[in-house]
Amino acid sequence: MLLLALLTTHFVASLAEPRLIQQLRELGLANLLEQEVRPNVPRNSASYDFIVVGAGAAGCTLAARLSENPQWRVALIEAGGVENIAHLTPVMAGQLQLTASNWNYHSVPQRLACRGMNNHECALPRGKILGGTSSMNFMIYNRGNRRDFDAWAERGNHGWSYDEVLPYFLRSESAQLQGLEHSPYHNHSGPLSVEDVRYRSSLVHAYVRAAEQAGHSRTDYNGQSQLGVSYVQANTLNGRRHSAYSAYIQPVRRLRPNLHVFPFTRATRVLIDVATKSAQGIELVYKQRTYKFRAHKEVILSAGAFNSPQLLMLSGIGPEDNLRAIGLPVVQALPVGKLLYDHMCHFGPTFVTNTTGQTIFPTSVTLSDILSFYLAGNPATRLSSIGGVEALTFLKSPRSQRPDDWPDLEFIFVAGSLASDEGTALKMGANFKDEIYDTLYRPLQLASQDHFTLLVMQFHPKSVGRLWLHNRNPFTWPKIDPNYFQNEEDVEYLLDGIKEAIRITQMPALQALGTRLLDRPVPGCEDQRFGSDDYWRCSIRTMSYTLHHQVATCRMGPATDPTAVVSPELKVHGMRKLRVVDTSVIPISPTAHTNAAAFMIGEKAADLIRGDWL
Ligand SMILES: Cc1cc2nc3c(=O)[nH]c(=O)nc-3n(C[C@H](O)[C@H](O)[C@H](O)COP(=O)(O)OP(=O)(O)OC[C@H]3O[C@@H](n4cnc5c(N)ncnc54)[C@H](O)[C@@H]3O)c2cc1C
Ligand SMILES: *[C@@H]1O[C@H](CO)[C@@H](O)[C@H](O)[C@H]1NC(C)=O
Ligand SMILES: *[C@@H]1O[C@H](CO)[C@@H](O)[C@H](O)[C@H]1NC(C)=O
Repeated sequence: MLLLALLTTHFVASLAEPRLIQQLRELGLANLLEQEVRPNVPRNSASYDFIVVGAGAAGCTLAARLSENPQWRVALIEAGGVENIAHLTPVMAGQLQLTASNWNYHSVPQRLACRGMNNHECALPRGKILGGTSSMNFMIYNRGNRRDFDAWAERGNHGWSYDEVLPYFLRSESAQLQGLEHSPYHNHSGPLSVEDVRYRSSLVHAYVRAAEQAGHSRTDYNGQSQLGVSYVQANTLNGRRHSAYSAYIQPVRRLRPNLHVFPFTRATRVLIDVATKSAQGIELVYKQRTYKFRAHKEVILSAGAFNSPQLLMLSGIGPEDNLRAIGLPVVQALPVGKLLYDHMCHFGPTFVTNTTGQTIFPTSVTLSDILSFYLAGNPATRLSSIGGVEALTFLKSPRSQRPDDWPDLEFIFVAGSLASDEGTALKMGANFKDEIYDTLYRPLQLASQDHFTLLVMQFHPKSVGRLWLHNRNPFTWPKIDPNYFQNEEDVEYLLDGIKEAIRITQMPALQALGTRLLDRPVPGCEDQRFGSDDYWRCSIRTMSYTLHHQVATCRMGPATDPTAVVSPELKVHGMRKLRVVDTSVIPISPTAHTNAAAFMIGEKAADLIRGDWL
């Protein structure tokens, strides 16, 4: 790691050399050059056709598509700064949670979950940087099930069925996936790169074979059927992170005088003409000074599932009781933040093996890995591992009430655990107590014991959370109560998953590596017999680990739907010239991680907006 730091310093110091700049471009590290670009300084009363708030996955996509029209002036406002070499290095994904590019939210203390976290507060990281959460996530590319989108459409969201959204997923995608060159489910010429991870541990090969031996067939989880096991598909380009910013904005930023990007700039509210209920522009703060921007056509909030609802409420759009309680006049009563769904996981089980050198430890990154990755541009070193995630398995639970082709659970295979960074990042990023790390994972680290973890995730939880404001200061956090595991059945689904994960590890391919369950009891669960159902139930409520797929805080639905905040055209109900375009509009948890959907929503919104104004 020290070497990495030295190399980075060397790189940055020599940026002035034109030959090196050319080399960086060729290596796909062009983002580093952005450090030379001074941020745009806002001009008061500047006016634009469209103001997009938030340069995250959806916001970058939308701003890039709208600014393709040279007649339209587009402002893209972002609270965070620019990506650096750490963001581009996939194995460092976990470390990013400890940097200023994380908003660093926590939940309110949970009663029934996150007992392994300090004060029972689950950490809820979000990206605060050009690229948003796509610049600090784990880069897993996963769209969802046909039935997810068909269910959105059945709720009155016309235009959002699977057949109608698939073209937008494809429009964003540029796939380099072995064996899927001719698949109708993949495009090869969109802006966002989707690749196989070219570094693979021997553990993942054994896992994929064992899953097959247990009856899970090989599949492309973004293709015809999700069910089965797949090596992970990642948003990387030549083994480096490919964020929304790198994919959509960085390549065009200098070429489009009509696109103004404002990093380090915080939107504090939408300016609204109360008589006509129409958005006039936004108020923003840059270096402690307040500015106003005007929007001729529309203001679009793409600030993510926590900040878009916050900005609506700060602007007087939200639940009447909440707005009154904090002394904000109500412009439009809407159920903003009233619903919050997420994908809660069990961190584990973890399994130890007789292999050596296969688990990701920082000490296992060699000098030759570093030189090979940074200087030769080799995408097959450990540095391209997306935080150790190597394979996904989609499966049914025996208690499922859903159709057979609609998975209930996912296993995320990780060639590591909290020990993968020796307790320096993931543990803190997730707010785990020291006791958990010291008991379960420090011994693995000290012994350099090879191991892997199967995170078990439930796709369709019944527990529902919410988000609200406790004051009207735009610089404080909204209160977030995900209310995890309030519904007992959610715990039972994860228990089903844990049992199946253990069964897979009993198959010959993994037994050949001496695979066995890490059998140290989770602190707080010692009273239960190790491995019993009650033990795992306790473990689920202790080792609760969200994969950060929060949705529905600005839920999409027709005007007749009392839970809806935006229409199927993503317009805020009852308002004019105001839309929300990000994952907060997703009406129910999808059978997927949520990044791909954010790009799809950005692409579709661009078409909806063009349809209205051209
Ligand atoms: C640690 C982590 C790992 C994840 N891993 C994966 C994964 O592997 N695969 C996957 O599919 N999904 C993953 N996700 C989820 C996924 O990345 C997000 O759901 C998705 O990127 C959200 O996109 P978005 O456009 O809705 O919002 P974001 O990308 O969060 O964008 C919102 C942007 O708005 C900015 N902003 C907010 N408020 C303001 C304001 N007031 N003024 C100016 N700017 C503002 C933010 O800084 C941010 O840049 C992960 C999430 C996290 C946190
Ligand atoms: C692939 O992406 C390009 C660029 O976005 C788009 O023009 C094309 O229509 C897409 N192809 C398919 C098959 O969707
Ligand atoms: C794995 O190691 C353990 C402990 O040394 C040993 O008992 C076991 O036989 C080994 N298993 C395999 C398959 O090598």
